[in-house]
Amino acid sequence: MTRLLIRDLAQIATSPGGESPLRGAALGEVDVLEDAFVLCDGETIEAVGRMRDLPRLEGDVVELDGRGLCAVPGLVDCHTHAAFGGDRVDEFSRRAGGASYEELHAAGGGILSTVRATRALDEDGLRGAVERHRDWMRAAGTTTFEAKSGYGLDRDTELASLRAIRDAGGIPTWLGAHAVPPEFADADAYLDFALAEVLPEAAKLAEAADVFLERGAFDAGQARRYLEACGDAGLALRLHGDQFTESGAIPLAIELGARSVDHLEATGDDGIKALAASDVTGVLLPASALFLDRPMPPARTLVGAGAGVALASDFNPGSSFTESLPLVCSLACTQLHLSPAEALNACTVNAAHVLGRADRIGRLAPGYRADVALLDAPDWRHLAYHLGGRVVARTIVGGELA
Ligand code: NIG
Ligand code: FE
Repeated sequence: MTRLLIRDLAQIATSPGGESPLRGAALGEVDVLEDAFVLCDGETIEAVGRMRDLPRLEGDVVELDGRGLCAVPGLVDCHTHAAFGGDRVDEFSRRAGGASYEELHAAGGGILSTVRATRALDEDGLRGAVERHRDWMRAAGTTTFEAKSGYGLDRDTELASLRAIRDAGGIPTWLGAHAVPPEFADADAYLDFALAEVLPEAAKLAEAADVFLERGAFDAGQARRYLEACGDAGLALRLHGDQFTESGAIPLAIELGARSVDHLEATGDDGIKALAASDVTGVLLPASALFLDRPMPPARTLVGAGAGVALASDFNPGSSFTESLPLVCSLACTQLHLSPAEALNACTVNAAHVLGRADRIGRLAPGYRADVALLDAPDWRHLAYHLGGRVVARTIVGGELA
């Protein structure tokens, strides 16, 4: 097994971790070591420490010079829509001229235009698209990504999307309730089909199910029906909720024991209180709010109330065409008023909790997977400070340079 020693790092920054998502003051705690090393044994971290404590290493060790660099845990993107064809650059241009995202969606554009482009890909094309997007994410420091289907909305394209995500090393989520495709009269008729014809196979490929609970998509009753069936089939539950309107996503997520409710740009005081008192993580997507010129989610109030929060890119062609978690960390600091430490923990250890993997990824600690983002900076806080720049110099996935 190859051992890799990343030596002479200016700093290492990592969460001390915990059994459950970090909340309140603990979200802002990061352990920082100066003049440090990370030692990987194959796919696993063997040791992390100060250079002066580096033991004498016997046998073959590949060394990587970390001078001038900082190491943070490989970033964990717990919410992406990386399985899509085509683009929405025309829509982007129209929105720049004043058209709204919801208007374009209601007129059969938006998500449904990406459904057309995704259905037009064969399985190889879909695989190629997911791999390309994964490589973009890796270049920006992401070592674990979740990705949702939801641009097929027919049996074959949904299942091909989930396989393409899995085969590219992603964690597949079945977003079977993303929009109502044009061949169905209404949402209920579509759900009849999706739950009878797609769920049995999707449940074998995906880890979780997700629904877009929103005006113009699925209402709370429909979301409940979809999620209950998915839960019965063994899938973990996620919701897109409170993006434009508060439509009951938080109470439903709590009642059904969902892992997360994601977006929350429209969440008010009662929702904040309820979420904070629950075990459901709020996944904040500031790049999506920025891209759509929408209000930012009430991150500071959520954290102050004690809610567990994570950060993710929401990478997709319509509402958040960015794969960059460093950019998301920047926005978290400047727009959500989180500290760099809160931002780092939200897209590492807390995101790992959302994906049910906090015992393996999201920290630089012995026994964790050897996933590391090396920052081209003398201080780890450049992760958030460097606005949109190339702050990640190297990404290491499972002990291998990606
Ligand atoms: O999370 N809001 C619903 N779904 C995606 C956007 C999908 C799209 O516009 O293609 C989101 O923002
Ligand atoms: Fe999303």
